[in-house]
Amino acid sequence: MLTGATGFIGQYLQKALLARSEPVKAVVRPLSANRDLLLCGVHSILADLSDTPQLISAIADCKAVIYCAGSVRGRNLEDFRAANITGVRSVVDAINRTGSEIPLLLISSLAASRPRVSDYANSKFLGEQEVIRHAKFPWTVFRPPAVYGRGDREMLPLLKLARKGIVTPVGPPQQKFSLIHAEDVAAAVLAWLESWPACREQIFTLDDGHSGAYDWREIAETASGGKYRPFRIPGSLLLAVAKANLLLSGLFGYAPMLSPGKARELMQADWLCDNESLTRATGWSPEIDLEQGLEKTFDNHYNQNTER
Ligand SMILES: NC(=O)c1ccc[n+]([C@@H]2O[C@H](COP(=O)([O-])OP(=O)(O)OC[C@H]3O[C@@H](n4cnc5c(N)ncnc54)[C@H](OP(=O)(O)O)[C@@H]3O)[C@@H](O)[C@H]2O)c1
Repeated sequence: MLTGATGFIGQYLQKALLARSEPVKAVVRPLSANRDLLLCGVHSILADLSDTPQLISAIADCKAVIYCAGSVRGRNLEDFRAANITGVRSVVDAINRTGSEIPLLLISSLAASRPRVSDYANSKFLGEQEVIRHAKFPWTVFRPPAVYGRGDREMLPLLKLARKGIVTPVGPPQQKFSLIHAEDVAAAVLAWLESWPACREQIFTLDDGHSGAYDWREIAETASGGKYRPFRIPGSLLLAVAKANLLLSGLFGYAPMLSPGKARELMQADWLCDNESLTRATGWSPEIDLEQGLEKTFDNHYNQNTER
């Protein structure tokens, strides 16, 4: 069973699971505007994440549960709660009530390692805690760093600028961060499906294996073929814009991507992780470096022919 199948990462998971001939049952909220993003061959179950009876019957004959639903935009902790915390608890309760040993993989985030930075980070941390404290079955948590690829809406504007060599560093000059392409996240999930007993009750990070992670110069030069035009944004300006956006989101009723919490995430000196433990446990290792990943993200020919 898969939650979040209609999201950016979820779509890569659908594709990878179907390619492996795994039957996929996707729990999709009845009011989802994205039901058309379910691939042919995916069995959909319309249910809210709070609908325990429906979840129990959906889980009953499943080999594993992959929780990939999540909110990545919001004004405050409440906005993140349903998908990142209570939804997780509800799925944990449903598996507990089946009394089975069905393994659960929670797609959390590297942000969960710093819950004080933002409401999003806190919600991911609290979601993990729901699993750690209440699951009576085998579980694993993945903490990916920033994930990119075709279909992503959050990083795409930045990557489009980077293709012109333009980057907008907002953190300290030596800021470093890990990245991973969504196809590699999906491949890691497949590896977990095969070897979850070796991953029981553990939290794993995963990245693209690039030693020392990335700085803005490397991203710009890789994306643009050598150009580097930094357009530094002072942290104070970013925070001011984020606060204004938060105000506007309250007035106009939208979920803001750029909030003061997101600004604080962007200003961290680093977001670093590696694959060592996950590779040891599953044998998985990433295959897509930044150059290839950007090609896959932007190459129309590739997209038209292979990423349907
Ligand atoms: N993207 C990244 O860079 C990144 C990095 C690290 C971790 N993650 C984590 O990976 C997960 C997926 O991220 P994503 O980028 O794929 O997000 P996304 O594109 O925004 O997709 C979110 C998915 O969750 C579903 N969802 C949201 N709120 C829900 C709710 N209240 N009830 C049921 N379903 C709900 C959405 O369904 P609808 O289609 O109906 O809206 C969608 O399928 C999240 O947990 C995120 O924290 C993402």
